[in-house]
Amino acid sequence: MSGEAAGSSVLRVRNLVKRYGDAVAVDGVGFDVREAEIFSLLGHSGCGKSTTLRMVAGLEEPDGGSIELRGTAVSDAARGIHVPAERRNVGLVFQSYAIWPHMTVFENVAYPLTARRRGHADIRRRVLEMCEVVGMEAFVDRPSTALSGGQQQRVALARAMVYEPDILLLDEPFSNLDAKLREEMRLQLQLLQARFNTTVVYVTHDQTEALALSHRIAVMRDGAVEQIGAPEDIYRNPASFFVQSFVGRVVVLRGEIREAGDVQLPAGPDAVLPGAGAGFSGRAVRVAVRPEDIFLPGTSAPRGAIWIEGRIEARSYGGDHMDYTVAVDGAEFGLRLAKNAAFAPGEAIRLGFAAEAARLWPA
Ligand SMILES: Nc1ncnc2c1ncn2[C@@H]1O[C@H](COP(=O)(O)OP(=O)(O)O)[C@@H](O)[C@H]1O
Ligand SMILES: [Mg+2]
Repeated sequence: MSGEAAGSSVLRVRNLVKRYGDAVAVDGVGFDVREAEIFSLLGHSGCGKSTTLRMVAGLEEPDGGSIELRGTAVSDAARGIHVPAERRNVGLVFQSYAIWPHMTVFENVAYPLTARRRGHADIRRRVLEMCEVVGMEAFVDRPSTALSGGQQQRVALARAMVYEPDILLLDEPFSNLDAKLREEMRLQLQLLQARFNTTVVYVTHDQTEALALSHRIAVMRDGAVEQIGAPEDIYRNPASFFVQSFVGRVVVLRGEIREAGDVQLPAGPDAVLPGAGAGFSGRAVRVAVRPEDIFLPGTSAPRGAIWIEGRIEARSYGGDHMDYTVAVDGAEFGLRLAKNAAFAPGEAIRLGFAAEAARLWPA
């Protein structure tokens, strides 16, 4: 696991722990966030993402561990250090629209600067610039109540960035927006981040979003970090079965370990992964293959491919492709194929993959 940053890190989190009564919400989380990167905390609902982010923001006090922002300890449970949120130079945007309804767009974005007692001319210049950056320059005098959800989150983003915080903390900021707008906002965030070299920690439960947006991702599970890496690392070299099945799609087959460590797949009489089971204890393994590594018999099938037998359960038309539900050895999975590959429900299907494309995990 590569939690260590190569370059300068803006944020260092070490061994962070947070308990609520007997429940451990965050259980020894550690990571570094580098200058000018988008770093995502990705995991299922309840795995401790928001609690971690709130501790970084200073809104929650850790029960254990430490947080360093630009080299300064802002939380250290052992040393009794806890710098309150308003004295940490962080920008925050949450899922719920947290802009103030009784203020105009201008007043909302200006607020952090007013609170920091900046001069009028400076405030005006900065606010108008940020409103332009997020595409809200035509709305500066609008009352915030007269804004759509997407516009409100743009204002929240402008307000969080207007005083150039050391780090921008975003907790599922676009998840209340519809899919198309969410994608638009995601793109805008990427442009904004690149333009200002902002350092961002982005919390999401959506693996597609994390893959698309992040320079690096920390995959979290049950209050702990399971793997840290670039999106391609996480996708191609998952550290666990959990990570492989959570990030991206995966076909999972049962494998039985035979003598000499060969792995037999019940899904095909000749489907044997030679020696692949060496080093596993027990008789059973899970064999995981990405759907894009699966091919049909014919043209491009390489020599030595592993062949499995399945049946088409259902299909749905997707315009430029067909989505099939395939049953293999009691497991069902989705398979996306070119439109010209026409199979009917009930039909038997033979699927192949290269032995190297299979990852084995303890059953
Ligand atoms: N204020 C709180 N009081 C009690 N339990 C909490 C509180 N905040 C979070 N939790 C619990 O801590 C765990 C992690 O929550 P959270 O960090 O919000 O997860 P996520 O953001 O990944 O969905 C959950 O089990 C949640 O119920
Ligand atoms: Mg959350």
